[in-house]
Amino acid sequence: MLTDKEILEESRRIFELQIEEKDMLDFKNVFGNKHPVHIEIGSGRGEFLFRTAQQNPEINFIGIDLKEKRVKTLFRILYKEKLKNVRIAKIFLDEESIKFIPPNSIERIYLQHPDPWPKKRHFHRRIVQHSFIDILHKLLTKGGIIDIATDHEDYANWIVEHFRKRKDFTSINKKGFTRESEDGHVETYFEKKKREEGFEPYFMKYRSI
Ligand SMILES: C[S@@+](CC[C@H](N)C(=O)[O-])C[C@H]1O[C@@H](n2cnc3c(N)ncnc32)[C@H](O)[C@@H]1O
Repeated sequence: MLTDKEILEESRRIFELQIEEKDMLDFKNVFGNKHPVHIEIGSGRGEFLFRTAQQNPEINFIGIDLKEKRVKTLFRILYKEKLKNVRIAKIFLDEESIKFIPPNSIERIYLQHPDPWPKKRHFHRRIVQHSFIDILHKLLTKGGIIDIATDHEDYANWIVEHFRKRKDFTSINKKGFTRESEDGHVETYFEKKKREEGFEPYFMKYRSI
């Protein structure tokens, strides 16, 4: 019987995204195939990442989160689930940390229920800013999609307004968002919690052009 420490070590050995300081990632080496790559930013407890990866074995998934505690949870689950098409990285997503990802190489990026930072004095902490949308554009393939969900009305408007100002993204939903979830939609921990409190999500989807 392995200890928790051994489980984490073994899981990291297999599922951690190995980033060499100067080298650009070669996804064919990482996953051993040429399947398209999707990234989830802020994977939290991993419900969305793991379920979506199970449903789509022909797609490779990278889950990132900045918190060590969250990342450990992801490695513990992966040790049990053994999903060959998933890699995890502890990353604070910013201009610097994405340098190792080849430009225009990601087909789809997911941002599920980012922290809404509801107070005006904290708005600068919201992950969706124009600098963040620049990063998305750099990573996504032409025609690639960013998929966002939030239950927070003000944040939803903030996101819609930011993307409305962009010439490099087009909204897939006419109004900028929809309240209808797609078939096969995976509910995350935060989404479930917020629905129980009476907050229904807004779904936004933008295509990189
Ligand atoms: C509110 S939680 C949502 C988690 C999960 N997506 C869900 O819906 O249950 C936001 C997550 O994003 C992570 N996060 C916030 N900013 C980030 C950044 N710049 N880079 C990577 N992860 C980030 C946090 O650590 C946290 O786990």
